Amino acid sequence: MSKKIIIDCDPGQDDAVALFLAMSSPDELEILGITTVAGNVPLNLTQRNARIICDIANYKNAKVFSGCSRPILVDLVTAENVHGNTGIDGIDIFEPETTLRKMHAVDFIIETLSEAEANSITLVPTGPLTNIALAIIKDPSILKAVKQIVLMGGAMREAGNLGASAEFNMRVDPHAARVVFECGIPIIVMSLDVTHKVLTSRERVNEIESIGNSVSSATANMLKFFARYDSEKYGIDGAPLHDPCTIAWLLKEDLFSGKECNVRIETDSSLTLGHTSVDFWGVEGNTPNAIWIEDIDDVGFYNLLIDRLKRFD
Ligand code: RIB
Ligand code: CA
Repeated sequence: MSKKIIIDCDPGQDDAVALFLAMSSPDELEILGITTVAGNVPLNLTQRNARIICDIANYKNAKVFSGCSRPILVDLVTAENVHGNTGIDGIDIFEPETTLRKMHAVDFIIETLSEAEANSITLVPTGPLTNIALAIIKDPSILKAVKQIVLMGGAMREAGNLGASAEFNMRVDPHAARVVFECGIPIIVMSLDVTHKVLTSRERVNEIESIGNSVSSATANMLKFFARYDSEKYGIDGAPLHDPCTIAWLLKEDLFSGKECNVRIETDSSLTLGHTSVDFWGVEGNTPNAIWIEDIDDVGFYNLLIDRLKRFD
């Protein structure tokens, strides 16, 4: 039976690849909706980008929603330096046919979960957690329908990528992140610790490009652009492919390994705002609230991604 998911994202080239991967697997994943949030670029662009991705994938009847345009408390910080001014630089931008639904993303999340059976829906956030946090605050009863949250965010062994000690999604809205990590739902955390082990090497991008369909071409072109920033920053060939790790876990969990532990979010210190404090050895005795994914079979990951991209005609 396919897993029911809601993807909450801020496309972003890596969000886009996560969406393609999810759309390629309808027998395993039922995408109930795609909700968008301000993050990599402002909301007017992330919502448009999500609809462009649906068009490229010829993903009919996609339900795309626009959500929060800024974090709960702090000012919005975006990442055009990484993703380009469009948010999905690397491909041509066009006005998508996929329409934007009128309902606010937060209300869609609440309505969908309110009508769902207990423990039946997986939330897959790949951007700042503002939409998810506000849905929980507005109607905490929706949590009974949430089976798990599989999110991209955080860092422990890796240094931060927005400031010295925080990962982008957690730092952009640290208060939202705290609400989510304290909500009591099991969280599968795809942090920089694991995403930095799935690099988009030139060889891998060429293999994706050689597939030769519109989705694989868009993926290769976006990744060529996306990789330039991290390649230079880290002095490596390629970039960590962050967001698709969430979908890959849902499709092939055995590619990954991790450890149950307690994770808390720094919301007070200006120095370490958004830091994920991971009690990996349980020294503080707090109840584990997450599985901190540490390792991945990166060859298996790319084999899965390439195999699924081939499914698009
Ligand atoms: O730190 C990486 C995360 O921030 C990814 O989700 C990327 O898309 C950006 O949102
Ligand atoms: Ca993202």
